[in-house]
Amino acid sequence: MKESYTLIVINGPNLNMLGTRERDIYGKLTLDEISGMIESYARENNIKVIFFQSNSEGEIVSFIQNNRRAHGLVINPAAYTHTSVAIRDAIAAVSIPAVEIHLSNINAREEFRKHSFIAPVCIGQISGFGYNSYILGIRAIIEYLESRK
Ligand code: DQA
Repeated sequence: MKESYTLIVINGPNLNMLGTRERDIYGKLTLDEISGMIESYARENNIKVIFFQSNSEGEIVSFIQNNRRAHGLVINPAAYTHTSVAIRDAIAAVSIPAVEIHLSNINAREEFRKHSFIAPVCIGQISGFGYNSYILGIRAIIEYLESRK
């Protein structure tokens, strides 16, 4: 049995609109449905997950600071990917291993989406696999944590 880890899953602005928002790009699932799938995967792997969604940069920064004892962090920073030095600095400050994830392939879209302020302070980035990007992100964190024991 693997050690039990606590991971945080953070979703940035407008991801609360999944299910109705640009379904051709982001898919038909709501954020609650995606969270349910993450929860099932986590349970199978004996992992505790704490979910957080906010449309506000400062709230995301405070949440990261307040949960700095978590073992790992999976974040879809949404539009803040491309703008937020504050979220980048918060992740660097807590030194929790983090994976940046995106539903869409940000490298295959507009030029401004190709730059991420967050990726350089993460152990890696997963982009373009729809809801599966979250599952792959959780799996990447678990394997990273196990490899460092
Ligand atoms: C996104 C990609 C971002 O560029 C965009 O601003 C989002 C969603 C994704 O999951 O594909 O809101 O992070």
